[in-house]
Amino acid sequence: MTSFSHRVEQVSISGIREVFEAAGEDAINLGLGQPDFPTPEHAREAAVDAIRAGKADAYTSNKGTESLREAIAEKHARDNDLDVDPEDIIATAGGSEALHIALEAHVDPGEEVIFPDPGFVSYEALTHIAGGTPKPVGLREDLTLDPRTVEEAITDETAVFVVNSPANPTGAVQSPEDMREFARIADEHDVLCVSDEVYEHQVFDGEHRSPAEFTEGDNVAIVNACSKAYSMTGWRLGWITGATDRIERMLRVHQYGQACASAPSQYAAEAALNGPQDVVEEMRVAFEERRDLLLEGFEEMGLDCPRPSGAFYAMPKVPDGWVDEVIERGVVVVPGEAFGANGDGYARISYATDMETLAEAIDIMADATEAVR
Ligand SMILES: Cc1ncc(COP(=O)(O)O)c(C=O)c1O
Repeated sequence: MTSFSHRVEQVSISGIREVFEAAGEDAINLGLGQPDFPTPEHAREAAVDAIRAGKADAYTSNKGTESLREAIAEKHARDNDLDVDPEDIIATAGGSEALHIALEAHVDPGEEVIFPDPGFVSYEALTHIAGGTPKPVGLREDLTLDPRTVEEAITDETAVFVVNSPANPTGAVQSPEDMREFARIADEHDVLCVSDEVYEHQVFDGEHRSPAEFTEGDNVAIVNACSKAYSMTGWRLGWITGATDRIERMLRVHQYGQACASAPSQYAAEAALNGPQDVVEEMRVAFEERRDLLLEGFEEMGLDCPRPSGAFYAMPKVPDGWVDEVIERGVVVVPGEAFGANGDGYARISYATDMETLAEAIDIMADATEAVR
């Protein structure tokens, strides 16, 4: 067999998969990164209608249909008070592809990408795939990312820093002041800030703000997706928006790697974005209720858990052997180190499951905690 590229040899299949494989078939899965709700009916119908009408048979424009990009621009006006030109948007295969084309278009071999540790697994992997050098940086005690830490980590080799709020795996939400600082850092150091906002609607305390609201330059690009907002992870529809020149460069990567996002999914996404938004609020309320139940459970177990203000994850500090004990007892959780070296000693719990199942899982985690103490 021929040898493989150095870049790909530095990446392995996510540790999260291994945890799933280790768990029994009847296990309660608190490891999943997707909402446990159906995709809104009107989004499904829009895709079906487009397919039936023959509208989804051909390539769309590389950037995505004009009507989808208009819906995305309207979403940014509505939710983020941002004036986005539909021409400065690329519809992608989920937020994942948006992150991929951002790094491919901006990172040269050896250049550095700064991202939170613990942080979403793709940041490090996509940095390697782009030939860059990962620069994971630690978090505050409350698991938010301190802008000062980012600023201190910037060198002449830094191409990009990634901000993710609300965050996977911590559930942390950055304050508006932090976001203002990230924008200032991007402006002053002339470094691209990639703001991953895929969990923007799942905020329980505080508010979601984007660094793009505060920038005075063109160094913030927003990654977002329908995946978590509308429970559409399987549809693979996300986007990136940023300065015109950046979009033009990212489009080169997208054009050759993807041609365009899946046409039926573009119609579904457009309907989700333009349609009634009550499903978004329903999910947010459900997640908040579950977050509260879980935090109560951790408190009773005596586990210290920085209060997650958003997304649908919690990251308690756990004793040695806790993750294995919990998995052995039939609840899948992910060890913190799957998200970076600083995740060691923590576990990520996804509460994208109904209250009854969550309560059952909490009882099992409580027994496991007793067992390893
Ligand atoms: C922080 C973060 N960004 C991006 C993504 C990618 O989402 P998508 O399913 O839209 O590719 C995920 C998925 O888990 C995520 O947690």
